[in-house]
Amino acid sequence: MSESPPTERVILVTGASSGIGAAVCRRLAAPGARIVAHARSGLDETVAHLRDAGAEAEACLADLAEPGAAAQLVGFAAETFGGLDQIVSNAGFADPTRFGEVSRGELDRSLATMTGAFFDLATAALPHLRKSRRGRVVAISSFVAHAFPADYLFPVTAAAKGGLEALARTLARQLAADGVTVNCVAPGFTRKDKQGHSSLGGDAWQRAAELTPMGRIADPDDIAALVAFLLGPEARHITGQVIHVDGGLGLG
Ligand SMILES: NC(=O)c1ccc[n+]([C@@H]2O[C@H](COP(=O)([O-])OP(=O)(O)OC[C@H]3O[C@@H](n4cnc5c(N)ncnc54)[C@H](OP(=O)(O)O)[C@@H]3O)[C@@H](O)[C@H]2O)c1
Repeated sequence: MSESPPTERVILVTGASSGIGAAVCRRLAAPGARIVAHARSGLDETVAHLRDAGAEAEACLADLAEPGAAAQLVGFAAETFGGLDQIVSNAGFADPTRFGEVSRGELDRSLATMTGAFFDLATAALPHLRKSRRGRVVAISSFVAHAFPADYLFPVTAAAKGGLEALARTLARQLAADGVTVNCVAPGFTRKDKQGHSSLGGDAWQRAAELTPMGRIADPDDIAALVAFLLGPEARHITGQVIHVDGGLGLG
């Protein structure tokens, strides 16, 4: 029996209203793809682009900091499209507040939105991923858990992304025998869309480019290109990895 084309799959992309998540959707936009695009608001452009390119697409609004939201999202995707093959856990934000000023509540908000939501997405999706012939999970981590330039410290974001990576690697081991791969992509400084949430102001982005060995910050599509590859058939033997797309920032 021949397999259906690799574009035929149900994919959930969180944080799809701008930046990296929207760029991932643009990469995945093709006939055969059935995509649930998630954010708290502002998904019209992403969904219109997906449909124009021949994909089936639905928007789903949810605040991932709320308990139960991630599981509802998985339920929506599975009910709408009859299953769930792939997840891109991308929704997130960076909190630049330093020790001494950042509160325990802010730590909890970052952990809930990024680490906890990933945990809940993966838990709810487990039976669907195991059933799928092209099961994939890609989580978007960050350089902030790996590189610590003095003017760019994000302690609670680093904690959330570090936890996310640990969850992803253990999930990768657990699901390997089912043929499901689980990987993290860790972007360096990446350009924000105008509707995105930027934690940096002033000339901080210019200085970030200067700090990056390649001399520029990434475009969202630089990250999306790797995500799309990891979701595809040629990446079937790559699992449990944290792959940096950071222009050499982690080299120091
Ligand atoms: N840009 C960078 O320099 C950089 C570097 C390293 C890692 N990253 C990571 O890459 C991912 C995407 O970042 P980006 O730069 O593309 O940011 P962005 O343009 O601001 O997009 C963030 C997305 O996440 C969603 N989101 C944020 N908080 C949410 C919540 N509580 N519930 C549901 N959705 C939520 C936003 O939805 P709404 O707009 O509806 O709120 C938006 O769709 C994040 O995980 C970030 O940590 C970014």
